[in-house]
Order: sequence, then structure tokens, then C-alpha cells
Amino acid sequence: MPSLPSVRASNNALSTHHPSSTAVFVGATSGIGLATLEAFATHIPNPHALIVGRTRVAFAPHLENLRTINPKGTYTFFESDISLIANIDAVCAEITAYLSLSSAGGKPDSKAANIDLLFTSQGSLSFFGRHNTPEGLDLSVALRYYGRVRFTQLLLPHLNHKGGRALTVLAGTQEGKIFEDDLDLEHNYRLANAANHFASLLTLSYDAFAAQNPGIGFVHAFPGLTSTGFLGRSATGVLGVLMRWAIDPVLGLFVAKAGDVGERMLALAFDERFAHGSSPVDEKGEVVVNAVLKGYRGWRRRWWSIMGRFLSG
Ligand SMILES: NC(=O)c1ccc[n+]([C@@H]2O[C@H](COP(=O)([O-])OP(=O)(O)OC[C@H]3O[C@@H](n4cnc5c(N)ncnc54)[C@H](OP(=O)(O)O)[C@@H]3O)[C@@H](O)[C@H]2O)c1
Repeated sequence: MPSLPSVRASNNALSTHHPSSTAVFVGATSGIGLATLEAFATHIPNPHALIVGRTRVAFAPHLENLRTINPKGTYTFFESDISLIANIDAVCAEITAYLSLSSAGGKPDSKAANIDLLFTSQGSLSFFGRHNTPEGLDLSVALRYYGRVRFTQLLLPHLNHKGGRALTVLAGTQEGKIFEDDLDLEHNYRLANAANHFASLLTLSYDAFAAQNPGIGFVHAFPGLTSTGFLGRSATGVLGVLMRWAIDPVLGLFVAKAGDVGERMLALAFDERFAHGSSPVDEKGEVVVNAVLKGYRGWRRRWWSIMGRFLSG
């Protein structure tokens, strides 16, 4: 694994080759996403960040902080509850309109391809089984899987097709068994099943996108255990109290800090090794295709047709 100083050194060098960059951040209102956004503002001389989050007011102090980190940056917040696919459709239309206008000097240009990085890290865990959204998808899975695929699908036409990058932070290299007869896990929903199954589907989705978009790099990264308060925010009731007051603080002593992982994620986002294709990347920054994923690659055509059911309409 590259040491943190060498990761920071490579990020410091970004200013030479990437004096400006436009990135869409989803799930960057806290944790690893926020840390990556701050690293983006730190290392890119003229950063243009489009940030999607559910509460503008809650993000206001972070916007101020970004402006302090780099006053030359442009930081635009889009308010949306992205646990619903319909809201993702709406906010992607807003982003598209915004980008089209800004790239064409005030005139709409629907063909503008000007996103260099699409970064997605939204997520929560469900400790007590399925919790369906009004659209009938499990909330945790809507955030960790369906929504990420939907953002990628809708913003793809605007991703820079010469070196653009889609980077999603979840569980690349941790792929496991897919329940082929129960793709939405209506009957097999358990924490571990959902983690393994949707890790595989996310990598296979990126494989499919990469096959159709050879000029874009798709990275599904596993960050490793990171101190973000993620468990405490996901759990409710007594378990939530236990996580917030006992488990998260103790874990925080032993696992990686969000700021360090943010630096690592930024380095992946601009790493030339991942300029093309679909790369599952582990917490050390290495591509690993485990035996289970190896078995599933080649299965994606069938998967893609089934996925259409969830994403259409
Ligand atoms: N932390 C780890 O140790 C670890 C390890 C492996 C994988 N991961 C994965 O990496 C990703 C990022 O983890 P993290 O620790 O950075 O998480 P985090 O700090 O809890 O951030 C999660 C993001 O998702 C958003 N979100 C959560 N629930 C939402 C909802 N119902 N509707 C809309 N947005 C919602 C949050 O928005 P708000 O700010 O509005 O809540 C936040 O922007 C997660 O998918 C996680 O599964 C984390």
C-alpha cells in the first residue's frame, strides 16, 4: 500500500496536470465523501464541485469551510433526498441543465461533456432487515446500489469521454454470492447477504458501463474500516446508542481516519492506472478480482436486462 505521505505527494502534484477539474459529489455531506471533497478543494487549484445532499442548511458550514480551503473554487449545492430514484432523475436533470448552461456561455448545450469525476459514497446500513422506501426499494440498498447506478447512467453523457472517471466507494474486491433468483433480496435480506450481493452487482454494473464507454475509467473502491461514525448514524434505538457511545469511539482508535481515506480516494480518482475499464480496488489501492467476481464476469448481459426492470419508469 502506498504510504500516506506518498499519496499526499501525488495529490500535491495534481495541480500541475489538473489546474481545474469539475466533479459531482454524491454522499459527500459527511465521512469519506466529505473528506474526499475537501481533498479535491485542497489539491485542485480551480476546483468546481457540484455537491448533492439532502439538506442545504446542514451543509452550510461545510460550504464555508470549502471556501476557506480554496477561495478560487466554485461549490454548488443541489438539495435532493437521493434515497428516491425519482429524486435522482430530477436532480440529474438539474445538474445537466446547470452544466449545459455554464459550458455554453449561457446558451443550453445538451451535448456538453464536462464532468471529470463522478464520486458516489452515499450509504447507510440496515441492521433490522428491509426498510422499504415509497418506491419499494430497501432504503440502504437504494442508497448503496440503485441510486449510484442511476446517477452514473444519467450523468454518463456529461462525463468527459477522454479520461473522465466514475468512482464509487463501497465494497469493490469484497464481491460475493449473487442471489440470482432474488435480485432485490426480498427473501434473502440479511446484512452480510446484502453487502456481498450488491458489491457484486455494483462491480458488474461498472463493468457494463465500462464496456460501453472505453474513454472513461470506472472504479469501485473499498475504503477499509474508517472512522466516520457510519455505524452510529445507521443504527437506531438501543443499538444506535451503543454504536454512537461505545463501538464507534473505540473503533475510532484502531481504524483509518476519514481525512486520510479522503486523500487516498482522491488519489484513486486521478490515478492513470484506472483511466479505462472497470476496476475493483481494495483498501491498499490495488485491483483485486476475487474468485467469486471472476466467476460472475461474463454474466452481465443477463444482469443488465433484469436491472432494466428496476430502473425504468
Ligand atoms: N466507514 C467505513 O468504515 C466503511 C467501510 C466500508 C465501506 N463503507 C461504505 O462507504 C460509504 C461511505 O461511508 P461513510 O463512512 O463515509 O458514511 P457516512 O459518513 O455515514 O456518509 C454517508 C453519506 O450518505 C448519505 N445518506 C445516508 N443516509 C441517507 C438517506 N437516507 N438519504 C440520503 N442520503 C443519505 C449521508 O447524508 P447525510 O449527511 O444527509 O446523512 C452521507 O452523505 C458507505 O456506503 C459505506 O457503506 C464505509
